[in-house]
Amino acid sequence: MTQYVAAIDQGTTSTRCMIFDHSGHAVAADQMEHEQIFPRAGWVEHDALEIWRNTREVTAGALAKADLHVRDIVAVGITNQRETAVVWDRATGQPIYNAIVWQDTRTDQICQELGQLGGGQERYRDRTGLPLATYFSGPKVRWILDNVEGARARAEAGELLFGTMDTWVIWNMTGGPEGGLHITDPTNASRTLLMDLDTLSWDEDICADMGIPLSMLPEIRSSSEVYGHTRERGSLAGVPIAGILGDQQAAMFGQACLSPGEAKNTYGTGNFVLLNTGTDKVMSENGLLTTVCYKIGDNAPVYALEGSIAVTGSLVQWLRDNLGMITTAAEIEKHARTVEDNGGCYFVPAFSGLFAPYWRSDARGAILGLTRFVNKGHLCRAVLEATAFQSREVIEAMNADSGVPLKTLKVDGGMVVNELLMQFQADILGVPVIRPVVSETTSLGAAYAAGLATGFWSGEEDIRRNWAQDKQWDPQMAEETRQEQYRMWKKAVTKTLDWVD
Ligand code: G3P
Repeated sequence: MTQYVAAIDQGTTSTRCMIFDHSGHAVAADQMEHEQIFPRAGWVEHDALEIWRNTREVTAGALAKADLHVRDIVAVGITNQRETAVVWDRATGQPIYNAIVWQDTRTDQICQELGQLGGGQERYRDRTGLPLATYFSGPKVRWILDNVEGARARAEAGELLFGTMDTWVIWNMTGGPEGGLHITDPTNASRTLLMDLDTLSWDEDICADMGIPLSMLPEIRSSSEVYGHTRERGSLAGVPIAGILGDQQAAMFGQACLSPGEAKNTYGTGNFVLLNTGTDKVMSENGLLTTVCYKIGDNAPVYALEGSIAVTGSLVQWLRDNLGMITTAAEIEKHARTVEDNGGCYFVPAFSGLFAPYWRSDARGAILGLTRFVNKGHLCRAVLEATAFQSREVIEAMNADSGVPLKTLKVDGGMVVNELLMQFQADILGVPVIRPVVSETTSLGAAYAAGLATGFWSGEEDIRRNWAQDKQWDPQMAEETRQEQYRMWKKAVTKTLDWVD
């Protein structure tokens, strides 16, 4: 009987379930978008109950599409948008507030106050690998406890649980209020600002600084082991849950970036460049994050350097949803191809401030270089180019931190179907860009983590064997043009800093 592994990818804009065979090919996928809630400028929320409902629907949907039964699935892996924080009542399973999304900047004040305790933005860098920034979960939990009536007292009484979306989904899948597992893995925990990168355990001093009771926090397990089984509440009832990886770390797995020096760039809502640094924890001096790449069972953790970019694919959505300039995301390439170049126009999408390498939550977006000449095609081009310029910024930082310039860039995620963007990325970086056959690397990576724990795949060799190249783009731009365009981009970025006084 042919067997399969399922992956649930709880992402920023949608939740999907994919089912993979032993060669790493997807045999079915189902996906549902959820509402993006913007209560105020800079705030972004999700309804955690809607996400749990969607999770159940897409798992059932994927099984139905593949015409498979639950007995055909040997394991399920979970991957997720990282940092997004939800707090719920352990007795009822009701969230006490919407999930606060990683893009949300409401905790700016909290971060500043914590920095003023000493050390500023670098206060927790040594222990967590992260700057104090609105991006991470800890300050979001603090905000919920400070702002939802009675929350702090309930948290201190042990009535509330915190989780990132992996934790929330697994708690529900394994029984919810009736004994649901309250767990996470080090890749997700390393994004909370609460976990010690050496011990992979919660740092009690940081939790005390942030006023977060330890009783709310999930148990940190490895990224690949059998944690428990799905209960009746999920459509994969009885299936072992055997993998948890934050989505960007899962993409590292899906891209087979399993040795030190291997890197990938995922083009999703945002872009995330990760470089495997092996069992060495490399501290960045150039605005990158140090994070856990994965921890397989009892093996030593593997670390990564990460360049996180908040807004790339979501800028295309913004053009579609907020401006109505395009009707589908795919249409942007057609408009961008109507012009030769950006017509002097640069778009810095600092909608959530700027992440790596700047870490400036006060930055705000700007379109620079407008003249009467600029048309829709130029704007569409500037939107796509923003993704490539931002990627170059974090890759330059990575080259400086590692001392070894990247020779090729493996890419994946939704935007890699855009050939114009891929060519421009190779041009602006000056290195070849390589797309794999299976570009759904995030789900595939979560499936690998689960399949390794259950013996479906025997080891890294299986994963490497399954990886295959689809297409390569080589740089074609003249060096002078590359330098000039990047110089103009950097100039544009300076205009977005210090906008809020
Ligand atoms: O850190 C945020 C990241 O995990 C979100 O990824 O793919 O949902 O945009 P994505």
